[in-house]
Amino acid sequence: MMGDYIGVIGDLHGRKIALGVSGGVAAYKAAALTRELGRMGADVHVVLTEAGSRFVSALTFHALSGNRVWTSLWDGGAENGIPHVVLGRGIDAILVAPASADFIARLANGLAGDLLSALCLARDCPLLVAPAMNRQMWENPATQRNVATLGNDGVVIIGPGEGEQACGETGLGRMLEPEALCEAVRAFFTPKRLAGRKVVMTAGPTFEAIDPVRGITNASSGKMGYAIAAACARSGAEVVLVSGPVALPAPAGVWRIGAASALRMRDEVLAVLPGADVFIAVAAVADYRPVETAGHKLKKSGAAMQLELVPNPDILAEVAARPDAPFCVGFAAESHDLDMYAENKRRAKRLPMLVGNLLADGLCGDDNTVVIYDDEGRHPLPRAPKALVARQIVEHLARLLPTA
Ligand code: PMT
Repeated sequence: MMGDYIGVIGDLHGRKIALGVSGGVAAYKAAALTRELGRMGADVHVVLTEAGSRFVSALTFHALSGNRVWTSLWDGGAENGIPHVVLGRGIDAILVAPASADFIARLANGLAGDLLSALCLARDCPLLVAPAMNRQMWENPATQRNVATLGNDGVVIIGPGEGEQACGETGLGRMLEPEALCEAVRAFFTPKRLAGRKVVMTAGPTFEAIDPVRGITNASSGKMGYAIAAACARSGAEVVLVSGPVALPAPAGVWRIGAASALRMRDEVLAVLPGADVFIAVAAVADYRPVETAGHKLKKSGAAMQLELVPNPDILAEVAARPDAPFCVGFAAESHDLDMYAENKRRAKRLPMLVGNLLADGLCGDDNTVVIYDDEGRHPLPRAPKALVARQIVEHLARLLPTA
């Protein structure tokens, strides 16, 4: 079973992507984008327009991609002297970032007078376009017409974003940041195995207040849960993430609800649960809470202090026991005897799937080593970054999920 997972090293591994860079100040972000796409495993081939080369040199892209940079329809060295045809072979997608107003107009009209336009016109692969321009150029009816035409032609438009622009104005038109563009490309290539499904999740620790400044909590960065939320969203699910206090931004396309304490987390989960197909409990919920929370800061007296605790409700057990329970996935972090404790938890809560991890690996770091337990047995995954582990967990659950 482990062999199923070997060889997966990045979401874009094995993908050949042509990155078109047209003329705009945002061309400088295309350098970071080249690196980020490469980091995700993509083989990036940059096509630079003449205007784009005024902002960033071909040498920069050559160094960052490790591939020759294409700049002209009349490039020597291409087989048969037809660079846009040679370059287009085997390409999985073309991403134009930044796409200037002028370049979008060329695309919308099917022009092919430069290498990047010709490549786009001669393509037999998806085309993704990230507009970047001044807000007035973006708002202009001509641009809006052109963007609508591209949408009708099946081109995927990513962005633009809102904010401060190079010209000093503020508004809609700036290119999305390289991380957001990468995320969009990853989402584009992720099979939509959870399309039409609603996933409710918990992640992070809970914080059980003793007084306004003190509390009982568990160690959890939220990284594992947030990575799973992102992977579910990329797979096409509607994702509601009920999160304890963590220092992470909400993943793209995920509705996050903050819930500090276990009681609050339970209430929020039950409120959003109707219609859920899947419930994934990644949170490290505190097992106990103080009977009372002091309304003021407790003063230090030097004497021993007694704190009376009561057990918190078990959110996962409660959800899994409902007659209309969604497909429930539990987590277990153990310091030893993972197989025994994890399987016991899975059986006690009657879960179709549970993910076990050893405390040494799972807590707060960037990597994790997990074992998936289900009715067919144990399925160990190799140690990997949490984003990759998350993807494999989501693929596993998608396979087990009853058809809708
Ligand atoms: O956030 P990171 O730093 O990335 O770390 C991730 C993690 C180690 C916290 C995560 O991978 C993990 O293992 N979470 C579960 C921790 C645990 O051992 O929980 P538990 O044994 O207390 O609970 C078992 C299951 O019941 C879990 O799915 C838990 O979310 C759920 N539970 C537990 C208690 C409770 N009151 N309500 C619950 O829903």
